[in-house]
Amino acid sequence: MMQEIAWQLSLVLMTLVAFGFGFVAINSGVRVEDYTPLQKRAYRIRSKLFWTLVAGLGPAMIYTLLDLPYGASRAGNQAGPAQVVEATGHQWRWELSRDRVVKDQPVEFRVTSADINHGFGIYDADMHLVAQTQAMPGYTNTLRHTFTADGTYKILCMEYCGIAHHNMMSEIKVGSL
Ligand code: CUA
Repeated sequence: MMQEIAWQLSLVLMTLVAFGFGFVAINSGVRVEDYTPLQKRAYRIRSKLFWTLVAGLGPAMIYTLLDLPYGASRAGNQAGPAQVVEATGHQWRWELSRDRVVKDQPVEFRVTSADINHGFGIYDADMHLVAQTQAMPGYTNTLRHTFTADGTYKILCMEYCGIAHHNMMSEIKVGSL
């Protein structure tokens, strides 16, 4: 049934293409000496299209730029006694040097991997991503974040790293002093 429809559709499309070819073939004999009106019309259409795109995509672009996480990350970068968490990714688990940190004080995650690339993502209780970096073998990425709410945060792997990728889950508790 589907094949029948596909075949009929192709037939229709092929006919249209054939007509197109025919049209061009017939008209190719006709010589237009002066292309200026055609050119003018093409330029008009082009500039209209350009401004339509600017009007449509410009606001969309600005809108998407409003919610950048740079402010939050800069807040986390302010100097202060950072609580350091060494985090190492393994197939398929996270090894953390500590699983408890204090709220409203910068935490410095030093993230690396013992085998292959992993993604280090910290999620709050609503499973919203709060911070992330990549866990790479032979390299340590520093991720600074200041937790502003108590709770249990989940650390999930964000990069497919093999059969048990989904098992790479860990937790970190954020509390008051
Ligand atoms: Cu580690 Cu996915």
